[in-house]
Amino acid sequence: MSESVIKKCLFPAAGYGTRFLPATKSMPKEMLPIVNKPLIQYGVEEAIQAGMDNMAIITGRGKQAIADYFDTNYELEHQIAGTDKEKYLVDIRETINQAVFSYTRQIEMKGLGHAILTGETLIGDQAFAVVLADDLCYSSEQGVLSQMVELYKKYQCSIVAIEEVPAEETHKYGVIAGEEIEPGVLRINDMVEKPAPEDAPSNLAIIGRYILTPDIFNIIRQTPPGRNNEVQITDALLTQAKQGGVIAYKFKGRRFDCGSVAGFMEANNFFYENVYKALD
Ligand code: UTP
Repeated sequence: MSESVIKKCLFPAAGYGTRFLPATKSMPKEMLPIVNKPLIQYGVEEAIQAGMDNMAIITGRGKQAIADYFDTNYELEHQIAGTDKEKYLVDIRETINQAVFSYTRQIEMKGLGHAILTGETLIGDQAFAVVLADDLCYSSEQGVLSQMVELYKKYQCSIVAIEEVPAEETHKYGVIAGEEIEPGVLRINDMVEKPAPEDAPSNLAIIGRYILTPDIFNIIRQTPPGRNNEVQITDALLTQAKQGGVIAYKFKGRRFDCGSVAGFMEANNFFYENVYKALD
């Protein structure tokens, strides 16, 4: 584990996951498995790899399975103790031992910005990471959060991970514009949530990895609801960009949008071929 100034990682996981209905009718989207591991575990492992040891999870109704997952299941442990099936629990036991998990509920779904603000009591007054677990990131070397922590050490400001998307897909993302200050790193000067292609300031889309400085909480508090009448983190970040500076980072690796059926299937195939089979 690398030494890190960022110890806490927030996982907003209160959304309804409507694109995955009916599966998400009674189970959290974050528990959908990529091969044999739930999406959220990949995110937690990425955070641990980046030196974080405190996972703050924003849940809502019907999300109890997440808290149960990062806990001991005594009955199951007892059943398989000493059998050859015990090996299947090695990974998750390790993950549970490497971090503290805390939870708070978002009572009303008022958007990602609001979900992040709900996490303030768990985070306190320190810079923290945010992972949207349905964006699954793969990197054969350094994980995406680790890459961002390195950058944070240098710039000490909020950072969003970005990637280029086709123009016809800008309406699914927060889209940024900025000037390149070093290869793959931009200082943001504009940001729009889910723009139509003709309104998009670029084709650089924010994906589900952030490092945020704690002044973001006050900014979110003062941010009125935006697109879809939700409190948008993109709007708060634009204010922060104007006040002090926010950086966008073209991460190294691949991202799978597992909140969509197509991205989820692609991730399953990729991880089965490139990760699971390699370890088996
Ligand atoms: P999404 O836009 O993917 O929404 O939210 P969703 O509800 O999860 O999925 P769909 O679009 O209905 O299929 C992005 C992230 O923000 C969290 C979600 O859990 C997801 O991780 N979120 C969003 C909240 O925690 N609370 C909110 O009010 C909104």
